[in-house]
Amino acid sequence: MADAGPAVDDIDLSSIEFWAKPWAERDAAFATLRRERPVAFFEELEVPPFPRGPGYYAVTRYADVLTASKTPEVFSSAAGAVSILDMPAEMNEYFGSMISMDDPRHARLRRIVSGTFTPKMLNRVLDQVAATAAEVVERVRGAGVIDFVAEVSSPFPLIVVCDLMGIPESERQMVLAQSNIILSGGDPEFIPEGTDPVTAFLGAGSQLVELMNGLAAERRERPTDDLTSALVNTAVDGEQLSGDELASFFILLSVAGHETTRNGISHGVRLLGEHPDQRAIWQDDPSVTTTAVDEVVRMASPVVWMRRTLTRDAELSGVQLHEGDKVLLFYGSANRDDAVFTDPDRFDVRRDPNPHVGFGGPGPHFCLGAHLARREIALLVGELFRQMPDFQLAGPPEQLRSNFINGIKHLPVDVGS
Ligand code: HEM
Repeated sequence: MADAGPAVDDIDLSSIEFWAKPWAERDAAFATLRRERPVAFFEELEVPPFPRGPGYYAVTRYADVLTASKTPEVFSSAAGAVSILDMPAEMNEYFGSMISMDDPRHARLRRIVSGTFTPKMLNRVLDQVAATAAEVVERVRGAGVIDFVAEVSSPFPLIVVCDLMGIPESERQMVLAQSNIILSGGDPEFIPEGTDPVTAFLGAGSQLVELMNGLAAERRERPTDDLTSALVNTAVDGEQLSGDELASFFILLSVAGHETTRNGISHGVRLLGEHPDQRAIWQDDPSVTTTAVDEVVRMASPVVWMRRTLTRDAELSGVQLHEGDKVLLFYGSANRDDAVFTDPDRFDVRRDPNPHVGFGGPGPHFCLGAHLARREIALLVGELFRQMPDFQLAGPPEQLRSNFINGIKHLPVDVGS
């Protein structure tokens, strides 16, 4: 049970061992933090070749995550939203694009991108997403026990992002491998042997950029109906993305749009396997899908945290913070805060209201792909119910050892034979 947590002084969110602990233990530690030290300071790990940073505050209560998300002028993303250590500014933007910017630069990029991420573009993609979901599930039908992550939840959103951008099929495996490295948090399974994580990280970024630069050049010459063509050929309010901005946006999409959704789906299947009563409710009544999908995202909280940096002194839960302090907004913890969610550890596919912050808090950085991600999860689970209604978990999930992505590396599922 989440409430029988460890002593607050024994919790170290910076230790690699913490992120290797089973989910229930991690949740119990966050329950202790929310109760006893909701804005807790931790030392940073040293990540060579960078100098050791000054440490960060872990923000674990829902109300504080909301406050920080809603006040970007105090809780800034510009020093980096996806990394605890301060990376050089160019590297930040290279890997982070708009997610690591404040307005007005953020607003400009988001405006250009939203101008192309239009309902028309999404509708075209959503038709294709439905077909892809059916195909991916069809491919494993009758295959007995499979690694669901490798066979279904990983390829599916990858194909969706690649289709969205117009990446050819031959490049998908490369995109998968490189985005795995960028989001691995150094998990040795994804870093090529004999390479240090920072070198692997930079190499992965430059391979994605190279791919995108090539594709952008092609689409300038011969536009198609994909997002890349729209991004390189359409000016919004007279503005267009530069080549570098496009490449960084693609890195953002290929990691933000793929790894997150993939883990949402894996956790969804795990939760359905572990909670037959909730599965029966959803499986018997497709109208439950809307609330069920948001409950999966709340329980899974695939993004563990995003970072903000204070532009001036401020207070959260009675803790005085100072200009320059780093804070991490722990979404999974906020999503289990019993000040907001009744019986928060319970998976309840009919939970309503469910104001979770799995896609970020309300504010300028709220997930650009939330609509697409919800549809992907709904369509994939719908196909599972339709094509293999008796699927069962066939072994324990293997956790990704990362403090940033709440990931499942492998998930044995019996899809029937
Ligand atoms: C279950 C799946 C997903 C989860 C849990 C998720 C989570 C998040 C979170 C927490 C943020 C907030 C960042 C912040 O406040 O600093 C975010 C932003 C973003 N997400 Fe998602 N995401 C998902 C799927 C997607 C998809 C499918 C796409 C696109 C294809 C996408 C694209 C983005 C982009 C571009 C941003 C940055 C927006 C900005 O800075 O203005 N995400 N996402």
